[in-house]
Amino acid sequence: MPATIIMGGQWGDEGKGKLTDALAANAAMVVRANGGSNAGHTVQTRNGTFKLRLVPSGILNPHVRCVIGAGVVIELATLVEELRGLRDRGIDTSSMLISDRAHLVLPFHKRLDELEEQRREQDEIGTTLNGNGPAYADKASRHGLRVCDLQQPDILRRKLAIEVDAKNQQLVGVFGAEPIEFDELLEQLLELAEFVRPMVVPTEVVVQDAIAAGERVIVECAQGAMLDIDYGTYPYVTSSSPTAAGACQGAGVAPSQVESVIGVYKAYSTRVGGGPMPAELLDATGELIRTRGREWGVNTGRPRRTGWFDAVAGRQTSRLSGITEIALTLVDVLDVFAEIGICTGYRVGDATLRHVPALLDDLEGATPRLEFAAGWLEDTTNARQFGELPQNLLAYLNLIELHLGAPVRYVGIGPDREQLIDRQA
Ligand code: IMP
Repeated sequence: MPATIIMGGQWGDEGKGKLTDALAANAAMVVRANGGSNAGHTVQTRNGTFKLRLVPSGILNPHVRCVIGAGVVIELATLVEELRGLRDRGIDTSSMLISDRAHLVLPFHKRLDELEEQRREQDEIGTTLNGNGPAYADKASRHGLRVCDLQQPDILRRKLAIEVDAKNQQLVGVFGAEPIEFDELLEQLLELAEFVRPMVVPTEVVVQDAIAAGERVIVECAQGAMLDIDYGTYPYVTSSSPTAAGACQGAGVAPSQVESVIGVYKAYSTRVGGGPMPAELLDATGELIRTRGREWGVNTGRPRRTGWFDAVAGRQTSRLSGITEIALTLVDVLDVFAEIGICTGYRVGDATLRHVPALLDDLEGATPRLEFAAGWLEDTTNARQFGELPQNLLAYLNLIELHLGAPVRYVGIGPDREQLIDRQA
């Protein structure tokens, strides 16, 4: 049985964690493909709310093997803290596997993330300050340290010394900041390495063996495809590829092994950090969406920017990732609106753009071209089957399908596991 990809179709925070947790009930393995501790996946179960950053969202299903793939960048201290926290709450983490090829996020990456952001001043990206950008930059420039480097202290000492030396020149010489203390860092890493050592394997082999054995494998992306480094709103993007193609690469799955690509979209738009968002609502409607959707960052606590559903962005991410099924989440947030907007174009001067331009200056002064659908004005949170959803909501789903070119299969109407309706159930 081939692989399923679960990816975000907007700017992240679409509810991928919840869907992954739900679908993992019928899977053997969940592989996290990209990103690092910048992600915050919330899963709510009868045993409480779990906020996951690096651990795949399948971990709450005891039969599922969870894998951190080669495309992820790992801050070891965060991972170890997360695993200990899960164990303390009675979650079995013994099936966790970590790719020996995954890159490490080190303290100097975090420091550089902060300093780079300060240097950009008003043009800051609004990163999560977790060091992901600098860690991926080191990966691309072939300076990165990987999980395999932790396995032998001598190798770690040698490679770390070179990188700490180079980074200290940058920290002190360019930014006038404090240098990183080598001995302290080495000691800390050796201790953390002990903890993760039993989990470290060539995960691409394990993933391929699982697929060959006919097991159901879910590949879980972090962030959303509008934050993709190639096709997102560069430079206001993350440093990895949260797309179907990126999912394959990061997890060690071949494109021909993918059976379905589930694009998770919110019923409206949100974005954290800087960058263009033509459908943004800076008024009471936007505020109401934020309050009803509890739109504050899981890790950073930052208020998220809110807006109507952006079908220009949605169409782009759907097409570029070949999305086969849509999961529309947080639909209940829209229960109170008499009219619901969909942005179908970006108006710039006399022109209407129907794609996301590469040069963000081309979006200067853009306003959304909005279409309005009639709201349903009723509480949807108690619906448990597709047939129980109001007619106007079904019409709204049709509109989204039309713009994105894929069918809506799942509808989220609340945070609980039971509040995810599968149209085919
Ligand atoms: P970075 O990934 O921390 O470098 O941040 C780059 C951009 O991606 C910023 O706008 C962040 O707010 C955004 N970002 C990164 N991770 C997430 C996420 O998990 N959800 C939503 N936005 C994210």
